[in-house]
Amino acid sequence: MDKVSVLQQKKAEALKGGGNKRIEAQHKKGKLTARERLQLLLDEGSFEEIGMLVTHRSRDFGMEKEIYPGDGVVTGYGTIHGRLVYVFSQDFTVFGGSLSETHAEKICKIMDLAMQNGAPVIGLNDSGGARIQEGVVSLGGYADIFHRNVQASGVVPQISAIMGPCAGGAVYSPAITDFIMMVENTSYMFVTGPNVVKTVTHETVTSEELGGAQTHASKSGVTHFACANEIECIENIKQLLSYMPQNCEEDAPVYPYDAGDESRAKLDGIIPENPNQPYDIKEVIEEVTDSESFLEVHKEYAQNIVVGFARIAGRSIGIVANQPASLAGVLDIESSKKGARFTRFCDAFNIPLLVLVDVPGFLPGTDQEWHGIITNGAKLLYALSEATVPKVTVITRKAYGGAYDVMNSKHIGADMNYAWPTAEIAVMGAKGAAEIIFKKEIGEAADRDAKWKEKELEYTEKFANPYGAAARGFIDEVILPSETRSKLIKAFKMLEHKVAKMPKRKHGNIPL
Ligand code: HXC
Repeated sequence: MDKVSVLQQKKAEALKGGGNKRIEAQHKKGKLTARERLQLLLDEGSFEEIGMLVTHRSRDFGMEKEIYPGDGVVTGYGTIHGRLVYVFSQDFTVFGGSLSETHAEKICKIMDLAMQNGAPVIGLNDSGGARIQEGVVSLGGYADIFHRNVQASGVVPQISAIMGPCAGGAVYSPAITDFIMMVENTSYMFVTGPNVVKTVTHETVTSEELGGAQTHASKSGVTHFACANEIECIENIKQLLSYMPQNCEEDAPVYPYDAGDESRAKLDGIIPENPNQPYDIKEVIEEVTDSESFLEVHKEYAQNIVVGFARIAGRSIGIVANQPASLAGVLDIESSKKGARFTRFCDAFNIPLLVLVDVPGFLPGTDQEWHGIITNGAKLLYALSEATVPKVTVITRKAYGGAYDVMNSKHIGADMNYAWPTAEIAVMGAKGAAEIIFKKEIGEAADRDAKWKEKELEYTEKFANPYGAAARGFIDEVILPSETRSKLIKAFKMLEHKVAKMPKRKHGNIPL
């Protein structure tokens, strides 16, 4: 055979993966192959493969006769909407996408290139875990990837899509990356599977219940997105990337934006008369951000806080917002962790933060205290306080107690703090406050209820408004809700070139 034919034959063999039968089996499960996924993910014709002819080195258990060029992972680079990305896509048709020494080396190579050249890494995971025939070199390969995940953290964005099995220690690479997407019904993640769980804890549970997309989207918060199918998952990755810069030294892309009438009359009618009545903070988000630009992250997890990306006048922002429509927007352990993690991503990648505040305080109770609301609530405080990106706050209604401080108050470094006339900024709610500070007077009154109401009203008039804070400059301006969008456009523009000085240190010690 001539030399060109040899090359062509080798490449054709690599393209076949584990062969037609296994490809068919993959399709029967409702899954695409590694190459089909990359074709959907990357701009047409942009994919450049690296390491197509890599083969494993195992010579045990008859492995010398089972050689598949590429060794179960397709790696390389390409573009998404014209921007460079590095990708790996595990091929389940080759040894179940299991990770060998060489499979790991291929992933490490593209991660090194991504770090060197400052572009995101996207991993499409579909793997039976460590290549069982290889032993410790496979474990070493995982650790080599984990170490690179950590080195790349905060340097280039890392996104993991789980499109099949991801079990055992293998889960820890996606766990370190910035965002995880899971496909419903065909993917799962767990440290130990249903069989081990049954043996150890005597619980009977399916893979889907234990570690499927819905479980991790709503119960554990491990995944940021649960996608109905692989196509939706791939589209989500592309959209997510559109808000991000290529690396920590760049800014996110700016999208075309036509300036127009920025007043939003709808916002003037959004806060209910009764301060205890809920409303949906997402309606506020939709009104103040560019049309259809909001991408919610962690939608089904800790719904009392809303986080996500959007654009204001074409520029990316990250939003952290209390959600009065869920648990009255109270801060608890899960919402604090959710808000903190998102805040830190935005800060690492130069994405300005908008914080919308309507928070009655921290959730009381033994469950919260015993599970560490102190340490966990501190995460959100720490994250917002350490962030050096432009930070803007709008208090729409309640800002009570410690939660006022935590939610991007002026005191922890917010750049611009706005409040609506409906804002209530105080140590606590008027009813509870009246009960404590006027205890004696209420107790001695002939009509205790009437006295209590009178004192509650007195406290409300004094503190349940934004003017005490505005008088001290803790609030920069009290604005009409309808003006919010135009104020935000101007504030973020004004803060565009913010320079923040940090104290010299190795790293801070966020209360993990
Ligand atoms: C080598 C593997 C493999 C593995 C699957 N295969 N997992 N080969 N090492 N880990 C091969 C199978 O032999 C089979 O080969 C093909 O992949 C498809 O597997 P099936 O079992 O037919 O597919 P399916 O029924 O869909 O089941 C998928 C699966 C199952 C649930 C992933 O294969 C499975 O349980 N695999 C073992 C998982 C595991 O225990 N891995 C090690 C975990 S420990 P043929 O030739 O028939 O196509 C670990 C530690 C990581 O990962 C530590 C990091 C620190």
